[in-house]
Amino acid sequence: MSKESIIIFDTTLRDGEQSPGASMNTQEKIQIASQLEKLGVDVIEAGFAAASPGDFDAINKIAQKIKNSTVCSLARALDRDIKSAGEAIAPAPKKRIHTFIATSPIHMEYKLKMKPNEVIAQAVRAVEYAKSFVDDVEFSLEDAGRSDMEFMKEIIDATVSAGAKTINIPDTVGILLPDEVGSRIAELKAFIGDRAIISVHNHNDLGLAVANSLSAINNGARQIECTINGLGERAGNAALEEIVMALKIRQDIFNSVETKINTKEIYPTSRLIASITGIEPQPNKAIVGKNAFAHESGIHQDGVLKNKRTYEIFSPEDIGLDLNNTLVLGKHSGRAAFKDKLEQLGFTLSEDKLNEAFKRFKELADKKKDIYDDDLRALVTSQMTNIQKSWELVALQLMDSTGGVPSAAITIKKSNDSVITDAGIGDGTIDAIFKTIDRITGYQGLLKDYKVKSVSQGKDALANVTVQVQFNDDEPAVIGHGLSVDTMFASAKAYLGALNSYISMEGMLKRRNEGEECNV
Ligand code: KIV
Ligand code: ZN
Repeated sequence: MSKESIIIFDTTLRDGEQSPGASMNTQEKIQIASQLEKLGVDVIEAGFAAASPGDFDAINKIAQKIKNSTVCSLARALDRDIKSAGEAIAPAPKKRIHTFIATSPIHMEYKLKMKPNEVIAQAVRAVEYAKSFVDDVEFSLEDAGRSDMEFMKEIIDATVSAGAKTINIPDTVGILLPDEVGSRIAELKAFIGDRAIISVHNHNDLGLAVANSLSAINNGARQIECTINGLGERAGNAALEEIVMALKIRQDIFNSVETKINTKEIYPTSRLIASITGIEPQPNKAIVGKNAFAHESGIHQDGVLKNKRTYEIFSPEDIGLDLNNTLVLGKHSGRAAFKDKLEQLGFTLSEDKLNEAFKRFKELADKKKDIYDDDLRALVTSQMTNIQKSWELVALQLMDSTGGVPSAAITIKKSNDSVITDAGIGDGTIDAIFKTIDRITGYQGLLKDYKVKSVSQGKDALANVTVQVQFNDDEPAVIGHGLSVDTMFASAKAYLGALNSYISMEGMLKRRNEGEECNV
């Protein structure tokens, strides 16, 4: 029996980016989109083109790069949003506009201040206008979870007649239970038939987003909107990795459907998103959490040693995780071994990028005896995400702060190759470093968050520092990453990384249609 395909619509770059503190720069978004393509997602929602020039630019660049997945932009049911979406995705071989309007009584009355018949007219107009840019148009009924069934049927009928090919039924506030989702989707499926694909977009406010998505599949939904690591507005969206693995592991139940996801890319994708956003999945997170394969109790360990299947329903390799985090390379490893190892980890680099990575690897091997998979992953990811280098750290010297005033002397190279050295003091060592960087570069950053994490084991472990810095009151904070065996050096690099990221998007971060709120 041939199986029906479940369309995996990934919205990590749009709804996921709405997670507090998850904003990403254009290079990072391109990197993520390429990894999502490799993972095998059908649709990449690359952003919300009308939200800001930065969002538009990122979607447009993704549209130029991605060949196998459909590239999609969100748009409110407004001409200017739809035009912007249509223009941003134009270069993509496969493209979609996703337009939406709220349909629940509370949203229509208080947010939109519109009558139901006006909402239907605007939705139809939006779909028709979107069709003038692309054939593939998706229409979403925002807050469908609290919308009236009969009204939903009316607006669905009108928008499908206007040309919408996918109808998305979001539980925007994450209020529904699996049985409710199931019966609503079954009723809508009976109503729509084969005129359009039914999609769901479940938020996780009650921790039910994945269960609700699976229930929707059982009742006729054929597109699932989801994010890597369950990122997203508030409590997040349904986690892609959980849905895909549930469908795969429980083929006894879901025997008539399948996805195109290459599950071996799940773990590398999860790590990439975590390292770019600085948002680590909780340790006990299903599938990709640090403890997902950790067996603590003696009885469990004994069972797993005898037969893994006693306590493991799938193996780490199924999601592309090598639990041994094998000790891979050392100072004397050659370029060929290095290249080979990167390929095993899923990184295929151009000659130039490989040479740069190999140079960084050799520098690291001088300071760190053993280099593990996670070190290499962090090394390559940080190289890929810190592409824009307006300012580069050359040297950092700290004065002993014990009993004295914490101070830092820093040398930084500008992209025009001029080198500047200056020194400054601060309330603590980190403060001294960041203030000195501000003095040299002329930017004033406000530190919003600072995290340090060791990449692998050992006293000489690499420190991975993530900072969130705001450089302008009117603009969102940006993220920077720094990697070094020295935590202070990593901190300085992270701060400069945030500044470089900010500079690469300067002027494009300005929010959202002259102050209008475009987050959804
Ligand atoms: O949660 C929601 O309703 C959305 C829509 C725009 C699909 O994100
Ligand atoms: Zn959403």
